[in-house]
Amino acid sequence: MDQATADRLADSAAEVLKANDRGDWTVPQPNLYPHQWLWDSCFIAIGLRHLDVERAQTELRSLLRGQWSNGMLPNMIFSDEAKHWRDRQLWRSWVSPYAPDGIATSGITQPPMLAEAVYRVGQKLKLPERRSWYKEMLPALISYHEWLYADRDPHQEGLIVLLHPYEAGLDNTPPWLSELRKHSLPLWLAALEKFKLGWLISIFRRDTQHTTLAERTGDIEAAADWVAMRRLRRKAYNSEAILSRSLFAVQDLVFNSIFIRANHQLKEIAKTAGHPIPESLDQKITKTATALEELYSESNGQYFSRSFVSHKLIEEPSIATLLPLYSGAISKNHAAHLVEILKRKQMFSPRWPIPSVPVDSPAFNPYKYWQGPTWVNMNWLIIDGLNRYGFGLEAKELEHSTLRMVAKSGMYEYFNPLNARPAGAADFSWTAALTIDLIKR
Ligand code: GLC
Repeated sequence: MDQATADRLADSAAEVLKANDRGDWTVPQPNLYPHQWLWDSCFIAIGLRHLDVERAQTELRSLLRGQWSNGMLPNMIFSDEAKHWRDRQLWRSWVSPYAPDGIATSGITQPPMLAEAVYRVGQKLKLPERRSWYKEMLPALISYHEWLYADRDPHQEGLIVLLHPYEAGLDNTPPWLSELRKHSLPLWLAALEKFKLGWLISIFRRDTQHTTLAERTGDIEAAADWVAMRRLRRKAYNSEAILSRSLFAVQDLVFNSIFIRANHQLKEIAKTAGHPIPESLDQKITKTATALEELYSESNGQYFSRSFVSHKLIEEPSIATLLPLYSGAISKNHAAHLVEILKRKQMFSPRWPIPSVPVDSPAFNPYKYWQGPTWVNMNWLIIDGLNRYGFGLEAKELEHSTLRMVAKSGMYEYFNPLNARPAGAADFSWTAALTIDLIKR
């Protein structure tokens, strides 16, 4: 891509971020996603740092408004506009004694990208300011990571367990869909499906008013997500109470890969700030980096998420298998093998990589949300991992195809990996922000 095209692309990305700016935080997209989302704001700050580093800092600070007193960072902080009362009422964070006063949030978390975002924003500051930025953010980061271990690693296995697909960030990815169907499909919902009455659910969906159903989670599965959420809410989002009864709990591969990287960045932040992290946390961090290998299937030569309860790997193909590259914790051999898989045309390298489900999987659907389309944040994470393992050429290629795809089709939420046709919402913030980062870093 020549410089003029890249400049034009970065300018139009900056316009998207400006239009989605709500003062101190940014909506992922104005119609479909009118609130603040955790990992979205992290990706947004990573892009914004090139335009206005102070605004990028504000984006991340504003996430801490929603932090619970036990350390949990919620995946959503709801807009306080009157018209959004229904969303606030749906999650009812106030049922938990840990939820903050005066602000409504969800009761679950999302991939822990915050340490990476804080670190990268800090890289744009001169050393004294960087130190004070890191000092400022460190306590919240430590308490978040400590909460993940205390609350979501009850057997001290080193791997974090998730209680809802939304926590994984890849809502309808096949491994989660298969667990959802096994453990979160009540009889009434199974009956609706059997008698082909799933369309009744559409009446209650808000997302499909803004995009077509063909590009979103299916009706039955969307209702199962809602059922799973109500179960958490009924237990006031108390993980211990939930885990003592539930079979629906997953040691998610994307989340844990990102967590390993976040732990690494957290330690870097602490070092620069001159405040070592607690010894007990440090020990847990070491354990997690090796525990990732438990998610490797020797017979398959790939990584998978695992059921927390049965301890069986959920061997449903998805882009998650490539995320250990981003973690930085796997051996060079395993990394080289993942790169080989990444390059297979019939799996992860169609014309516009990387599909969120390999093309040769029966579950692949080029338009359907996390069931096939290419997402810019996944590409960004994998580009980062490729570079870390010395696959600079592959990283560059992926960077180019990502930018060409966005230049061709616009700042969409996701893209058809076969022809780059846009799907989901237009003017999507993390697509814009990460486009800027790929161009300007
Ligand atoms: C969807 C995505 C999730 C994202 C949110 C806001 O729910 O699956 O990862 O954070 O939209 O963009």
